[in-house]
Amino acid sequence: MTKQLITSALPYVNGLPHLGHLIGCLLPSDVYARYLRQKGQDVLYVCGTDEHGTPSEVGANKEGVDVDSYCKKYHDLHVQMYRGFNLSFDYFGRTSSEQNKEMTYRIFHALEKNGLIEERTTNQVYSPDDDRYLPDSYVMGTCPHCGYDKAKGDQCENCTKVLDPVDLINPRSAISGSTNIEIRPTKHLFLQLPKLEAELEKWIETKKGIWPDIAYSVAKKWLKEGLKERGITRDLKWGFAVPREGFENKVFYVWFDAPIGYIGITKQWADEDPVNRNWEDWWLNASDVRHTEFMGKDNIPYHTISFPATLRGTNEKWTEVSFLKGMNYLNFAGGKFSKSAHRGVFLDQALEEFPADYWRYWLIANAPESDDTSFSFEQFAITINKDLNDVLGNFINRVLKMTVANFGEVVPERGNVTEAETELYATLEETLKAYYMHMDGLEFRKAMSDLREILVAGNNYLAKTEPWKAAKTDLARAGTILYTALNLIRLYAKLLVPVMPTTAKRMNDLLNLSDDSIWTPKAMSEELQVLNSGNKINQSEPLFQKIMPERVEELRQKYKETE
Ligand code: 2FM
Ligand code: ZN
Repeated sequence: MTKQLITSALPYVNGLPHLGHLIGCLLPSDVYARYLRQKGQDVLYVCGTDEHGTPSEVGANKEGVDVDSYCKKYHDLHVQMYRGFNLSFDYFGRTSSEQNKEMTYRIFHALEKNGLIEERTTNQVYSPDDDRYLPDSYVMGTCPHCGYDKAKGDQCENCTKVLDPVDLINPRSAISGSTNIEIRPTKHLFLQLPKLEAELEKWIETKKGIWPDIAYSVAKKWLKEGLKERGITRDLKWGFAVPREGFENKVFYVWFDAPIGYIGITKQWADEDPVNRNWEDWWLNASDVRHTEFMGKDNIPYHTISFPATLRGTNEKWTEVSFLKGMNYLNFAGGKFSKSAHRGVFLDQALEEFPADYWRYWLIANAPESDDTSFSFEQFAITINKDLNDVLGNFINRVLKMTVANFGEVVPERGNVTEAETELYATLEETLKAYYMHMDGLEFRKAMSDLREILVAGNNYLAKTEPWKAAKTDLARAGTILYTALNLIRLYAKLLVPVMPTTAKRMNDLLNLSDDSIWTPKAMSEELQVLNSGNKINQSEPLFQKIMPERVEELRQKYKETE
């Protein structure tokens, strides 16, 4: 059986994550991992914090602590928030781990041996006012390609072009704002991407029509521009020391060891149970592994070009990305989330306002798959009120209430199936086929729209069969309808496991079922006749609460959506 390796881009440890990070990679990867696990597949789902680079050094300085404790503190905060959202990583590690250091050195030495690393003296931006070299993202200026005036020295977030800080027009220090900038010569190591260009081009071409358009087209755009050798070391203290004479004061560039972090983190996972786990089974000569990577669009060049080149350059057979799910951006009221302006919703705040499943559902149903999308509290409320409260929540309430009123807290007798039930089976089977096709293709928005249709089918069934009327004239028939409807609740709980795991569990609790089993649906005539008549069921408080207009207004003000 194919083994499923799932990785979510590793969030920077210093930036506290917001809804954009959640939908950009963390949540879709979790939904996919849960989906495959439910199908009984062998899944390894890893993620972790990306800890090297200047932001950690600067952040630690600001807080007056050493970088190690700074990273540990923020790593733990990430862990806490992701737990709150029920992200089901098999391991959530750190790029600063010993295991990642070992992997980084191993890969680096192989690249060296294969003649793919060369020394160059480059001109680096130095800020006398900050008393340091300013690497990449700490030099700001105007993008030479699109004219965006807040471009960072590593990549322009406006046109996504990867930059070199010295390319920027009117450069300034992002730490102090100082324009007193010097260019100093310094020695660095460069990965020889041009030597691997032809090979990469051939490989990317095999992904045409298979990967989402955005992944393929970003890679193609990069290749079209022609690959340049890429610096993999920096003048910094924090990071993995470069194991070469003359490089004592330098470390590897954060983007060199970050993607290697997927492997390092897998080794962290394996080291916790060496008898049963082996990192090589997933990463080296592992021809039975399918690797699905999730990331925001700004990460695509690194994952389609530099990282695959790094792995190929070793001449070992590392696991490459099989499917790359790239996401567009989620904006906040048409603009960007901004930590400094306290604009937008950060993950800790999100959990203080609503249960994780509300967010999980909205974000997946509105995933920025084909374009950037915007979050707004109004749209959020409309979706939650309609899909979760009116369609799903009301269905469950009505069915449970009618059952208890007419039959007590037990599953009624199954009775004879009529045309209404066979019609329901047929509708569900057709929509389920589409749902599975879309989930397998990682087209989450479409899958959620199928799921919504499946939920609506339950309400339509009740409207058509009118069990409240049948209860007065033909109690046995009312029993059959409610029996079918209770089975629908079970089916919905199964289908909701990937997206709304907590809700799924609560629904199962209503029926006294457990939901941890491997499952793929059989014919609906079977799936909707699973419950045993006479089994105990439980009434409960409604599963969802409507979000009223006053609350929407309050949230808009609080999170500065109106500005
Ligand atoms: O963009 C980011 O948040 C990066 N920290 C992603 C790194 S992904 C992987 F390469 F580590
Ligand atoms: Zn630009």
